[in-house]
Amino acid sequence: MRKPIIAGNWKMYKSFDEAVDFIEEIQQEIPSTDKVDAVICAPALYLPTLVVGAEDSSLAIGAQNMHFEDEGAFTGEISPKMLSNVNVDYVILGHSERRELFNETDEAINKKVRAALNYGIVPIICCGETLEEREAGQTEAKVARQITKALKDFAPIEVEHMVIAYEPIWAIGTGKTATAEDANTVCCAIRLAVETLYGKDTAEKVRIQYGGSVKPENIEELLSQEHIDGALVGGASLQPASFMKLLEAAA
Ligand code: G3H
Repeated sequence: MRKPIIAGNWKMYKSFDEAVDFIEEIQQEIPSTDKVDAVICAPALYLPTLVVGAEDSSLAIGAQNMHFEDEGAFTGEISPKMLSNVNVDYVILGHSERRELFNETDEAINKKVRAALNYGIVPIICCGETLEEREAGQTEAKVARQITKALKDFAPIEVEHMVIAYEPIWAIGTGKTATAEDANTVCCAIRLAVETLYGKDTAEKVRIQYGGSVKPENIEELLSQEHIDGALVGGASLQPASFMKLLEAAA
């Protein structure tokens, strides 16, 4: 019922030429958007070029972060208005690296989600627990709290088009993946948090991705779970061959 969505997060990797070549190589091979939504979230500097490079394909281009204001004296920041001007379709918000390394708060993430929607940009809202929190049995409470704060003060019709990414922090870039069953349990808890806020119909429509060492070898099992509707992928999105395998598994 929910269409899978596979999003690559390139983080701060790839030269400009490598990024352009990647898009050129895969753009004609992307499965139809009837079957899967395919997204590459690239460094901001490359976005306008990649949007043009992907315009004749089913591949969408996303950003990895943005400010919540339209414009202003915010040195080094990029606004939703700017992303919209260059036809960026998605933006990752609240990635654990942004929260941990750049002190992003739940309140700022909530403002960013609002700003993204104002410009028709689909937010991919990240949440997830540390290893300590997992071991203390706090995982579900943590992600429910993060999502409740990020989704504060929207209309149900707005929420149903959002994407949520569950990324256990201990699984990011470590080669350790949550078991498919554990990931599903947490994604189910996230869906319940959305239901509590906006009702069952809305919660059933929201797509929830898993992220954290997703690769071609484990994608099928993850996607076979009831509450996992796709993946947010770091390392395995950097090579055209592995990114394409992930799309094919989801299509
Ligand atoms: O946004 C993507 C995640 O941080 C996952 O990265 O697939 O390299 O573990 P990874």
